[in-house]
Amino acid sequence: MKYWIEHSKTYDRFMTAYPRYLSMLDFHRQALRKCNLVLDSGAGTGNLTLALLEDGHNVVAADSNEYALNILKRKCKPYISRLNVVKIDLSKKTSFSSDYFDGAASCLVVPLVTRPELYLTEIYRTLKNGGYFSASPLLPKKGLFDYLINTLETDIKHTGLTIKYRPEWKKFIASAKENAKQIMKKSLEAEELMSMLDRIGFSEIEVSNDRLFNGYIILVRCRK
Ligand SMILES: C[S@@+](CC[C@H](N)C(=O)[O-])C[C@H]1O[C@@H](n2cnc3c(N)ncnc32)[C@H](O)[C@@H]1O
Repeated sequence: MKYWIEHSKTYDRFMTAYPRYLSMLDFHRQALRKCNLVLDSGAGTGNLTLALLEDGHNVVAADSNEYALNILKRKCKPYISRLNVVKIDLSKKTSFSSDYFDGAASCLVVPLVTRPELYLTEIYRTLKNGGYFSASPLLPKKGLFDYLINTLETDIKHTGLTIKYRPEWKKFIASAKENAKQIMKKSLEAEELMSMLDRIGFSEIEVSNDRLFNGYIILVRCRK
């Protein structure tokens, strides 16, 4: 968890300028557009939470990283009446009621949660029948770290951010490298994830053909 705290410190500076990440957020917004109450699971510093609030949803933002949740709370302050922030370990059974959420998002959280099957089963349990789930999992494909850092650096070059904030950029790269190591270790392949969703009971499972992340991250939507 220590590296998540480190990562949160520099995450927004560079990620919110990364067009591919913003397109990923748009994918979730689009997938959840019909929902009222949405769970943003593994909400982190709250970029998706903010987008969902701007779109008019009621949002429960859940994460175990208090440092990131404090950033989220500051960022989402104008929408506080429609936001509930919960510090929670998503690798355990949650106290959310069954059949509660209209939609749930998981943006760059699988496979970082240590027990993905329990995590996804909990999402299923807490969704209403017909509820929507969108996920953008990171896949353990060789070259993940280089791909993400190289595309990020190239895509945001014109902003001058990596020059202006050189020490932060170096810290970001170091924590991103640590994250990528964890992802490679946990090794949940796309096919395993799809069969897990199917086994849990999700239907209408669709993987977007989008080549946004060259197969390192896939965009998945499905329903309970
Ligand atoms: C790469 S960040 C993604 C944050 C956010 N969804 C986004 O896209 O910007 C992954 C998030 O998952 C959270 N996370 C990882 N394992 C968790 C767990 N067991 N319980 C709750 N949150 C967890 C981390 O704290 C981190 O904020």
